[in-house]
Amino acid sequence: MKIYLDGKLVENEDAKISVFDHGFLYGDGIFEGIRAYNGRIFRLKEHLDRLLASAKAINLTIPMQQKDIEKAVIKTLLANKLSDAYIRLIITRGRGDLGLDPRNCTKPPTVVVIADNISMYSEELYENGMEVVTVSTRRIRQDSLSPNVKSLNYLNNILAKMEAVRSGVMEAIMLNSEGYVVECTGDNIFLIKNEILYTPSGAEGALVGITRDAIMELAKNKLKIQVKEGRLSTYDVYTADECFLTGTAAEVIPVIAADSRQIADGKPGKITLKLIKEFKNLTRLTGTPIK
Ligand SMILES: Cc1ncc(COP(=O)(O)O)c(C=O)c1O
Repeated sequence: MKIYLDGKLVENEDAKISVFDHGFLYGDGIFEGIRAYNGRIFRLKEHLDRLLASAKAINLTIPMQQKDIEKAVIKTLLANKLSDAYIRLIITRGRGDLGLDPRNCTKPPTVVVIADNISMYSEELYENGMEVVTVSTRRIRQDSLSPNVKSLNYLNNILAKMEAVRSGVMEAIMLNSEGYVVECTGDNIFLIKNEILYTPSGAEGALVGITRDAIMELAKNKLKIQVKEGRLSTYDVYTADECFLTGTAAEVIPVIAADSRQIADGKPGKITLKLIKEFKNLTRLTGTPIK
């Protein structure tokens, strides 16, 4: 595997960064998870726009133009001969002396692109749907760190994931400090009730996902169903007709039970399955060609 590191493609075993990198020392950095399908990179511009917004939010000056980052992603895919892949793009504050102050980072930001083939959940879970649990770890408050900064600080999500795994399932529903449903540890959550699609609004503290946007567009434009963003409770999850999660890594996965409450008949919902089919079409027919 070839890794893009600070302008060069290096072998996996040579892809090393300094222990003085503030991304390593403090999680001071940002990232994007991007997918390529069938030789096209899905919604690359949206991902790079979000990356640049995250950089601005933490006052990190990225040492490259957006088009150069795009080239770095394509170069990494071509070097690894991948037409279907999961891409991890990371930019840290860079190397510097110990101490939180970013001014300590005298070296330019570290830029890394990894391209690999990953599936977040087992085929069985995609086929039959997964169970989730609501966990005690609350989603970080927006007045502490905006959920839309896709930062290298994922300890909040990791602690929630650990709670889910301890309960024997693969994913956790995270609540905000007011006790309302926000999202899961690495994906957004959707409910369907009376053929209306619901999802927590960004104001509840969720990362406004790029897959989330694509699914809402498909629901409105292809399935012609109503879409509502707003405030959802665990009661809404338990009493929904259908539930599913979305994310670049997770793609779209049905949820059939939450907190040991079966959702409707305990099978992937019919609208969910239609959206999965539409999403598969969309990802295979649109995106930035890898050339
Ligand atoms: C916390 C969180 N929520 C939601 C998502 C889904 O966002 P996207 O669809 O843009 O990948 C992610 C993706 O990594 C995430 O980490």
